Amino acid sequence: MTAGQHRADEPAAEQPAIEGRSLSKVYGLGDRQAAKALAAPDPARAVAAAGGYLGASDVSLSIARGEMFVVMGLSGSGKSTVLRMINRLNEPTAGELLIDGEDITGVSDSRLREIRNNDIGMVFQHFSLFPHRTVRDNAAYGLKVRGVGKAERRERADAALARVGLGDRGDKLPHELSGGMRQRVGLARALAVDPPILLMDEPFSALDPLIRRDMQDLLLQLQAEDRRTTVFVTHDLNEAMRIGDQVMVMREGRVVQCAPGAEIVAHPADDYVSEFVADVDRARVLTAYDLLRPARLVFSVADRPDEALRRLGDNEAQGAYVTAADERLLGVVTDAALLAAANRGDRDLAGAVSQDFHRVEPTALIGDFMHRAGRQVVPVTVVDERGRLSGVVPRATILSALSTASPQERDREERELELEVARA
Ligand SMILES: Nc1ncnc2c1ncn2[C@@H]1O[C@H](COP(=O)(O)OP(=O)(O)OP(=O)(O)O)[C@@H](O)[C@H]1O
Ligand SMILES: [Mg+2]
Repeated sequence: MTAGQHRADEPAAEQPAIEGRSLSKVYGLGDRQAAKALAAPDPARAVAAAGGYLGASDVSLSIARGEMFVVMGLSGSGKSTVLRMINRLNEPTAGELLIDGEDITGVSDSRLREIRNNDIGMVFQHFSLFPHRTVRDNAAYGLKVRGVGKAERRERADAALARVGLGDRGDKLPHELSGGMRQRVGLARALAVDPPILLMDEPFSALDPLIRRDMQDLLLQLQAEDRRTTVFVTHDLNEAMRIGDQVMVMREGRVVQCAPGAEIVAHPADDYVSEFVADVDRARVLTAYDLLRPARLVFSVADRPDEALRRLGDNEAQGAYVTAADERLLGVVTDAALLAAANRGDRDLAGAVSQDFHRVEPTALIGDFMHRAGRQVVPVTVVDERGRLSGVVPRATILSALSTASPQERDREERELELEVARA
């Protein structure tokens, strides 16, 4: 079995895999009481006044097929409540929950069981392994409850264990494994069933930071292979930014912002999110694309060296880019190289081009190239997959993006820095 196999013939990609419409969850009240409280002008207060608790309030979300969707927020903000409404471990008090377009809030118990068995897998924070069963039997457990035969169970469990790096541990007992390995078994159990949707509730929170990072790497690698629709709950912003395609930030049962991580860092919706992102390691979140600026001077290779040299002088620049007729970036020229070419009597720039610049892809993380910024006559250079110049990432832009000032302050700082750089 290859992962993702049974996803090929599913509905068109435009339909969200998971859609929540105005989902609310009231704890501790009867249905009628809860409905009445939710209809009040201030539902949270009305629910509290009636002696209940509003765990999730008017939560709408749309999760695309294959997306890694992260739900983030402080303890008690409603993350698990939302996650558990997706497979109805938590019955929504109000709202609709659609899986592949099917509203599952009203379906029969037998249909619900079918959906849980075939469509949705879950990984929990506390591993939830059976202590007296082998690693293999633990990994095969989901298949067993689904009635898969013994031989196939074994084969699929072993394949899943191999995928999480535990191919040789099938005969061990859980207590013989480290915490990180135990959670790999939890992950293998979900992978063995190969559900189109995976729900993960703080799966790495009990692990120490280094192991946790390894597990994030593993998940990212599996995700690159499977493109499985995954809802991942965490209260760790760096983890959210690192693994999430979309990050939904929750506070007191409500959604305060839902956007790609880089956008949340660059444009926090309110002070609450700002405070959250103040601690984030921006260098590991922002990409070259996020900080892209236009290149100042771009020559065609057919340009004349003396003319190029004059324009360099006019722009008070030390270097410029040279592109081919098909727009591919050929390299850079410096004032010295242009002068030499002009003195040689060259008719174009071909002989003056050098590769003395640092080239990155748009998806490169700032943290991976920031040390190269400011070392050459041109800034760090962003080149697309077809070899064309996308733009540059000036050092000043990096520095201001990494400062923890508010977005407004950062914009101002950046303008000042850019002026300063232009003058230098
Ligand atoms: N079964 C329940 N009965 C009553 N209240 C509940 C129940 N489950 C959750 N709550 C309350 O609902 C709120 C949201 O809880 P939830 O577990 O969804 O938060 P969370 O964001 O997952 O928090 P944590 O990070 O601590 O796991 C909390 O205040 C919690 O006390
Ligand atoms: Mg929780």
